[in-house]
Amino acid sequence: MPTTLEAKIPRLITALPGPKAQEVVAADTKFMSPSLTREYPLVAKKGHGAIVEDVDGNSFLDFAAGIAVCSTGHCHPKVVEAIQKQAAELIHISGTDFYHHHMPQLAEKLISTMPGKEHKKVFFGNSGTEAVEGAIKLARYTTKRDKLIAFYGCFHGRTLGSLSLTASKNTQRKHFGALLGGVEHIPYPYAYRCAHGHTSETCGTEILELLEQQMFKRLFAPEEIAAIIVEPIQGEGGFVPAPAFFLQELQRICNRHGIMLIVDEVQSGVGRTGKWWAYEHAGIEPDIVCIAKGIASGMPLSAFVAKESVMTWKRGSHGTTYGGNPVCIASAMATLDLIENGYMQNARKMGDYIFGRIHDWPQRFKIVGDVRGKGLMIGIEMVRDQKTKEKAVDLRDAVIDKAFHKGLLTLSSGENSIRMSPPLLIDEEQAEFAIRTLEESFRETEKMI
Ligand SMILES: Cc1ncc(COP(=O)(O)O)c(C=O)c1O
Repeated sequence: MPTTLEAKIPRLITALPGPKAQEVVAADTKFMSPSLTREYPLVAKKGHGAIVEDVDGNSFLDFAAGIAVCSTGHCHPKVVEAIQKQAAELIHISGTDFYHHHMPQLAEKLISTMPGKEHKKVFFGNSGTEAVEGAIKLARYTTKRDKLIAFYGCFHGRTLGSLSLTASKNTQRKHFGALLGGVEHIPYPYAYRCAHGHTSETCGTEILELLEQQMFKRLFAPEEIAAIIVEPIQGEGGFVPAPAFFLQELQRICNRHGIMLIVDEVQSGVGRTGKWWAYEHAGIEPDIVCIAKGIASGMPLSAFVAKESVMTWKRGSHGTTYGGNPVCIASAMATLDLIENGYMQNARKMGDYIFGRIHDWPQRFKIVGDVRGKGLMIGIEMVRDQKTKEKAVDLRDAVIDKAFHKGLLTLSSGENSIRMSPPLLIDEEQAEFAIRTLEESFRETEKMI
């Protein structure tokens, strides 16, 4: 019989949280920052593939992947081997001051995944927010302009520069005082709630009009704008994909005015949507791309990749102590190899499979308003009433909690959505478990109203 970790399907052996988990939660409550947003008491101990085992020996199917980070699953043997080998050879040298052969190797690999004629260059950092900070600085440096435009619902990080762009939940900004000046937000094309009744292919026309006819004429002259930053699929904002035409038009507007188009692929990138980068579905070529999360299977690594003509800043303009750490890069090299040789294709295949099975949830469950996404980036929006689309935050929370108590890990997204962002290696049996578990949770939750 396989161990709990080797099994593909979870097994619960205690009530949740179990006794050891309760102890950890109590200690955590005493010693850890209360700003962390745990949705349920999972106290992880081990992981393998798409399975996580907790401190009490319960196992869970992980459809959260550490917020879309564990792209190759937990502790993939090839990733572990690469980390161990590199850790035994050299842990740190600092890429800001010294060279290490892995850095250009990974940079070259990343660049090779990005379409477009122009050569590109890479800067490595440690987290998504750091990639965004760097992208903001580079855009300002290169254009010699300072204004920035982002979208409502977007999440780009929590350090003060990226937080100035983030417009997801007001708790993320409240009490932090004045942020970066010269930042404005415009609506994101959210087809399910499109004010103009468009479809998921056409939503956004009026937003582009607003940008050109109102924003450019009344607030910021385009020649003052350094960058427009966009998530091709809003992650924290509810897993909302932007229509292809919208991203193409954004690119056209940016090109026309010399504005940098920054695409934030921190959550949507690295094969999750069935292509290396979600922006590829729209056939655009951004000026700067921000990457983190799935790139190194859980080791802290981020990057921003820019066209060579954009990354022209001078020696000393930007740096970081840990960015491009050899162990993280070794993990990333192993990760990209796995993604390229099967997992990206699997993300596409399993994404199609899951969509095929759940596209009719709005017809079958009155609390499901919308099912959307690409590949293994799937959002489910919960409503109290399908006609009024009243947001059902409490019902969404109840579904997530019930799923946890049945052995499925998911996360919330946006105000009232659930996200499915499993490791890219899941198979049909695991997809079926997740689907069945969510369906049971919907049925039980529907009884609450
Ligand atoms: C699209 C996007 N950008 C940036 C970030 C910030 O990344 P990090 O939490 O690693 O700083 C996130 C995190 O969720 C994200 O989803």
